[in-house]
Amino acid sequence: MSESPARVAIVTGAARGIGAATALRLAADGFAVAVLDLDEASTADTVQAVEAAGGRALGVGADVGDAEQVQAAVDRIAAELGPPVVLVNNAGVTRDNMLFKMTDADWDLVMHVHLRGSFLMARACQKYMVDAKWGRVVNLSSTSALGNRGQANYATAKAGLQGFTKTLAIELGKFGVTANAIAPGFIQTEMTKATAERIGRDWDEYVAERAAAIPVARAGTPEDIAHTVSFFVSEGAGFVSGQVVYVAGGPRT
Ligand SMILES: NC(=O)c1ccc[n+]([C@@H]2O[C@H](COP(=O)([O-])OP(=O)(O)OC[C@H]3O[C@@H](n4cnc5c(N)ncnc54)[C@H](O)[C@@H]3O)[C@@H](O)[C@H]2O)c1
Repeated sequence: MSESPARVAIVTGAARGIGAATALRLAADGFAVAVLDLDEASTADTVQAVEAAGGRALGVGADVGDAEQVQAAVDRIAAELGPPVVLVNNAGVTRDNMLFKMTDADWDLVMHVHLRGSFLMARACQKYMVDAKWGRVVNLSSTSALGNRGQANYATAKAGLQGFTKTLAIELGKFGVTANAIAPGFIQTEMTKATAERIGRDWDEYVAERAAAIPVARAGTPEDIAHTVSFFVSEGAGFVSGQVVYVAGGPRT
């Protein structure tokens, strides 16, 4: 009996951080993984790590907020790996500033990547999920969705993604497609390192201070988030849809 081909997952922003850990985890779970990031060359490390662990990966360059690039990327993934039935909208940027100092460009870029990006990716992938009568969408929200000083743009985008998630769950449920969101708390990645640098803090001290305010008494890791993605995309999670799980070491940190 021949084995059926692996289901295909796309992870955006997978060159590093949470996206890279998620790509590795989904490959270990048996998915063929499209490692998508702004620049194809930047995906090489993640692709190699997946392959070294015995998985299958394809590196793809695209700006998730650009409709033409998204369509070309998804067409290529479908042709080279197979129909994408799992989508993890993880690509992200921050452009933090207090409201009075926030520029139009800071606002627009954050909306472009998180909201327009997740919308374009989901729209391009949904037909493959509907055709397969099976699919999983996971959107990366944040505890910042509850409000966070200096992040009017990012908090708005991350709250918006929760509404987007719930709407996809309602529209796509009858096709066997679930949509859920993960709202991470403080996770050690390049994104949070850049925040520490911007506010002039020593990284180790900053991590220790953040960890001290977290009920489980540690900072999060990309693998903590990848584990939750793995649950949402699993076969057994088909009755879990439209949910937001805060993965923050406590209820709201
Ligand atoms: N690190 C945290 O504490 C934290 C907390 C809550 C939510 N998140 C969210 O988790 C996700 C991953 O965060 P991370 O900490 O791993 O960030 P990161 O900065 O380490 O990685 C983000 C990746 O997204 C890519 N990217 C940015 N713009 C893109 C675009 N237009 N098209 C394609 N790729 C693009 C970047 O090149 C980068 O590789 C983001 O959505 C972030 O907002 C992170």
